[in-house]
Amino acid sequence: MTAETRKRREEMTAVEKVATWDVEKVRQDFPVLSQTVNGKPLVYLDNAASSHVPQVVIDRGSKYLAEEHSNIHRGVHYLSQHATTAYEAAREKVKRFINAPHVRECIFVRGTTEGINLVAHSYGRKFVNEGDEILISEMEHHSNIIPWQVMAEERGANIKVIPIDDRGQLIIDEYENLLNERTRMVAVAHVSNSLGTINPVKEIVATAHKFGVPVCVDGAQSVPHFPVDVQGLDADFFVFSGHKMYAPTGSGIVYGKRKWLDEMPPYQTGGSMIKTVTFEKSTWADLPAKFEAGTPAIAAGIGLGAAIDYINSLDFAAASAHEHDLLEYATQRLADIPEVTIVGTAEHKASVLSFTIENVHPHDIGTILDQQGIAIRAGHHCAQPVMQRFQVPATARASFAFYNTREEVDKLAEAIQKTIEIFA
Ligand SMILES: Cc1ncc(COP(=O)(O)O)c(C=O)c1O
Repeated sequence: MTAETRKRREEMTAVEKVATWDVEKVRQDFPVLSQTVNGKPLVYLDNAASSHVPQVVIDRGSKYLAEEHSNIHRGVHYLSQHATTAYEAAREKVKRFINAPHVRECIFVRGTTEGINLVAHSYGRKFVNEGDEILISEMEHHSNIIPWQVMAEERGANIKVIPIDDRGQLIIDEYENLLNERTRMVAVAHVSNSLGTINPVKEIVATAHKFGVPVCVDGAQSVPHFPVDVQGLDADFFVFSGHKMYAPTGSGIVYGKRKWLDEMPPYQTGGSMIKTVTFEKSTWADLPAKFEAGTPAIAAGIGLGAAIDYINSLDFAAASAHEHDLLEYATQRLADIPEVTIVGTAEHKASVLSFTIENVHPHDIGTILDQQGIAIRAGHHCAQPVMQRFQVPATARASFAFYNTREEVDKLAEAIQKTIEIFA
């Protein structure tokens, strides 16, 4: 893209951006989307759980396995060096994608869950002591609750919870009141997987930093939907999964500021993460190897790099605008159905539409929609405290990617209507 085109794109309004998004062309990139399910064209609205993989990323994975596979960081032979170069090139792509200051601050993990466990346990061992406090929010995914809970229990620390309001937004005044000299970490989602709320992470970080407290951002649901700049956010840690952003499963990233990572002990130990080993004492490799024990998921890491190349080949701003348009359209369509209640009505949302239907269990909604070829999620979405907050056992959740269409939203609304008729 020329500088002039880029400037013109930046100046476009949201409506103009949506108009430039050629969704039918993009859909051709994803082989799975041409499938039928239960005799109906697949309508895939479970992207918050896992998004699909474009052909270029599938091809990159196949090429690696067919022609380049070898263990990395250790061999002197051609294939090993070739695979190492490809893997490290993927790390460099990650660095640029999230605007990390240095490639060494980008650690490959298998996904967000492993990444948050790494941060919680390693940081906790070094920096958390009896009576300290860890601040998380009421809207977190279990992956951003339990690692902190387990670590806090081991260290004699306490978990404090930032409450959310009836729209599913963090109550920022309460957050500020909860911060104190005992707080050792704030861990929050960038975007909630169960409510779709986009949290004001930049402000949350700035406030925490006034108390000298680092912030760990769960970016699982933000990186697939809009550009993220970890330096702009000033996040101390930022964690995400590849499989929600068009890459294969088994890839993920922990970005961490070097000042913390250098101080933190290794999370897992074994091969590849050492400098020297004797039976008396071992020393650790430099970043990022210190946090990458054992053979990594090489194909998945290279696949993540290919997914980033794919996203970079698109107009990501137009993709975000298109997704936002879909979310607003779907919200309107569902709001027009009296039996439907939308759970999560924050002012700023991305991609997720959770709802319930009067007298119909979400699992029944999911099953009936599946008969129409529509894939949504039903359940507690690994966010049981959110379900408790809204006093529902579960919700149905449609979540959008840039390859979804308004016609698919219409099919969703029609299938919901049909479900209501069946249960009437
Ligand atoms: C907000 C959020 N955090 C963490 C996770 C866990 O991600 P993974 O299962 O890829 O480790 C998810 C997955 O749905 C999520 O949505």
